[in-house]
Amino acid sequence: MISYKELGLVNSKALFQKAVKGGYAIPAYNFNNMEQLQAIIQACVETRSPVIIQVSSGARKYANQTLLRYMAEGAVAYAKELGYAIPIVLHLDHGDSFELCKSCIDTGFSSVMIDGSHLSYEENVAVTKKVVEYAHRHDVSVEGELGVLAGVEDEVSAEHHTYTRPEEVEDFVKKTGVDSLAISIGTSHGAFKFKPGTDPKIRLDILAEIEKKIPGFPIVLHGSSSVPQDIVKIITQYGGKMDAAIGIPEEQLRAASRSAVCKINIDSDGRLAMTAAIRKVFAEKPGEFDPRKYLGPARDALKELYKHKNIDVLGSEGKA
Ligand code: G3H
Ligand code: 13P
Ligand code: ZN
Repeated sequence: MISYKELGLVNSKALFQKAVKGGYAIPAYNFNNMEQLQAIIQACVETRSPVIIQVSSGARKYANQTLLRYMAEGAVAYAKELGYAIPIVLHLDHGDSFELCKSCIDTGFSSVMIDGSHLSYEENVAVTKKVVEYAHRHDVSVEGELGVLAGVEDEVSAEHHTYTRPEEVEDFVKKTGVDSLAISIGTSHGAFKFKPGTDPKIRLDILAEIEKKIPGFPIVLHGSSSVPQDIVKIITQYGGKMDAAIGIPEEQLRAASRSAVCKINIDSDGRLAMTAAIRKVFAEKPGEFDPRKYLGPARDALKELYKHKNIDVLGSEGKA
């Protein structure tokens, strides 16, 4: 058993309290490799933003859970070396069992999500409560989820949103003791969130209803990529195929982050930014075969994207 405190990481409790009061959200960026982690830390140090670096089950399969946790430990030292010790939370994204959450807590994660959103309400309460009891003994934060996002989430997929029911949130939070709650209000995972010709709108009215039931309680939004059309254009220009990729308009996320939404998850936009930069290098320099020559520009593009998110979308700049 190693505590995240020994690694220089922090849990999300104090960060969320400040974010809710201050009307901004903490960025939660996924990482699977060194370049993504460097970009996240560089962007957050340069904007003086706290950050949640998160590990999905896809990331665990791709890169190995142990290696990712050591990289997170390295990120703490890396931030200091870049000139500013920003608060860093290492978070398990979409944990699907008590055992997985426990293994992350035991190896130094400072926050876990137990995603019981595909279970019945009672089963969701039971597994979430069990994770909370174990996590809180180690001062680790827990995110639960109520409602189902449309789209593909690891192996589980849902065709339609099941919006979070405001009448359930107070009971869920009380019974489980979670520290934050992910809700479903029309965001979804991936780059294809809305059908072309439809109005890309999330249900800020449901968010307001939820907030009335649990005032000031930290709310989390998954599936919050905006699918910037200038990036999609570069991908298409250099041979990619991304028809009808539409995301959540950034103004709507900014509005949500001014309320009790204090953690916003962004992964797909980063994938798009890296893909655009790599395609450009390959198209312009077909003879290039040194990975640093295309992963470097991808890392720089990712850093710029994350700086923009912190400054213009989440409002987390200067909050570290
Ligand atoms: O929850 C979705 C995240 O974007 C992670 O996706 O499992 O493909 O890494 P992934
Ligand atoms: P996006 O696919 O919209 O980036 O969402 C990421 C996410 O919710 C990770 O948990
Ligand atoms: Zn998610």
